[in-house]
Amino acid sequence: MSHSGQVNPVDVIVAKRRGEAHTREVLADFIGASMRGDVADYQLAAWLMAVVWRGMRDDETAALTQVLADSGEQLDLRGLPYPVDKHSTGGVGDTTTLVLAPLAAALGATVAKLSGRGLGHSGGTIDKLESIPGFSATLEREAFLRQAREVGVAVSGQSAGLAPADGALYALRDATGTVESIPLIASSIMSKKLAGGAKHLVLDVKAGRGAFMKSAADARALAEAMVRIGRHAGLTVRAVLSRMDEPLGRAVGHALEVREALAVLRGEARGPLREVVLVLTHELLASAGLVDDRSEVEAALDDGRALERFERWVAAQGGDVAALDRLEIAPDEAHWRASASGTVRRIDAERVGLAVARLGGGRTKKGDAVDLGVGAVLHARVGDAVRAGEPLATLHHRAGRGLEGALAALDGAAAIGAPIATEGVVIEVLR
Ligand code: URA
Ligand code: CA
Repeated sequence: MSHSGQVNPVDVIVAKRRGEAHTREVLADFIGASMRGDVADYQLAAWLMAVVWRGMRDDETAALTQVLADSGEQLDLRGLPYPVDKHSTGGVGDTTTLVLAPLAAALGATVAKLSGRGLGHSGGTIDKLESIPGFSATLEREAFLRQAREVGVAVSGQSAGLAPADGALYALRDATGTVESIPLIASSIMSKKLAGGAKHLVLDVKAGRGAFMKSAADARALAEAMVRIGRHAGLTVRAVLSRMDEPLGRAVGHALEVREALAVLRGEARGPLREVVLVLTHELLASAGLVDDRSEVEAALDDGRALERFERWVAAQGGDVAALDRLEIAPDEAHWRASASGTVRRIDAERVGLAVARLGGGRTKKGDAVDLGVGAVLHARVGDAVRAGEPLATLHHRAGRGLEGALAALDGAAAIGAPIATEGVVIEVLR
C-alpha cells in the first residue's frame, strides 16, 4: 500500500483479519481517511473487531497511539518545569488527583492537566472540582498555560479537539462490543496523554470489583502496554497497580470527596487514599528526578505545603477558598445498615458508585446533569468489626430522590462474616 492517502479500507481490514501488522504509514492513512469520512463506520467497526481478535504488536500499538495523538491539537509544555501527568483507569471514592496535583506542584513539578468528567459508577475530577463555588474548569489555552507556569497546577476539561480520532473510534467501540482490547484501550488512553504534552507520567491502574479491569493480571497487562507506548514516545512512565474492590476513600460523591481530599491535604486522614497518593506522587516525581525518598513527599503533605498550593490553585480558577469548609451537601440523611454482626469481608465499590449515581450523583450518558451534593460516607471498611443494624454508610440525599434505588443497589453489596486478613492497597509498581 502506498503512502499516498489512497488507502483501500478493505485491504486494511483483510490484512488485520489475517493477523498481519500494519505499518505506521498504513495506520496514518487509514485513520486519516476515516477522519475525512472516506472510511465507512461499518468498515471501521469491522477493522476494530479484527484488532480485538488479532491484537497488535507493540510497535504497531505505539504507532496507532501517535497517529491518534496527531489527529488534533496538542499541548506544548516543554517550556514549563518538570511537566508531569497522571492517569487513572477510574475508581470509586478516588480523589487522588485533587491531592496529587498540588502535592507534586509543591515539590517543583508542573501539573497542566486535561481531565474528564465522570461516567457510570466512576466520578470525574472536573465534576468534583465544580462542587467548589466559583471554580471554573473551562480554561482557554493561554490562561491554562499561564496558570500552570505561575501556580504549578492547572486542570481543565478535556476539549473535543484533543485526539479527535480517538473520540470517533471510542464512540464506535462503545456501540460494537470492541472496547475490551488491550491495544485499543492502551492506545486510546495514551493518545490523550501524548497530546496533553507532559514528559513524565504515572499511571494509576486499578484492579478489582470497582475497576474497569477486574483481575490483577488484566490490569498488569494494560499497565505494561501503556508503559511501553509511553517509552516509545520518549516519556518516563511508571505504573502503580492498586486494589479497587472497596471504595478507595470513605467518601463517594463529588462535594463529599472534595471534603475528604481536604482532610488528606490537612494531614487529618490516614488510610488507602493517602497511601495511593503518596506512592503515585513519589513514583512520578522520582521518575522526573525531582525527589529521592518518599519521606520528602510525605513532608510536603504533612507540613501544609500541598494544602497551601491547593488553595492557590482553587483561587486561580475562580474557586472560593473560604467556602471549602462549607461545600453544599444534600441535606437529608439515611443509612445503609449491616445485615449481620461480624467482620466486613467485602464492600463492593461498583455498587456503592451505582448507589450514589442513583441518588443523582452520576451520569448514565454524556451530558447528563449531576447533583454534586449527594453521596455516601462509609463508616466501615473491609476488616472492620460491625454489629447488625449498625450503619455501614450514611447516604446524603435530597428529599428521598433515588433513595430506594440506591438502597437496592447496596442490598448485598457488603459481606459480613468471619475475620479476614486485609491486604495493602498497592499491589505492585511497574518501573
Ligand atoms: N478509557 C479510554 O480513554 N479509552 C478506552 O479505550 C478505555 C477507557
Ligand atoms: Ca463516520
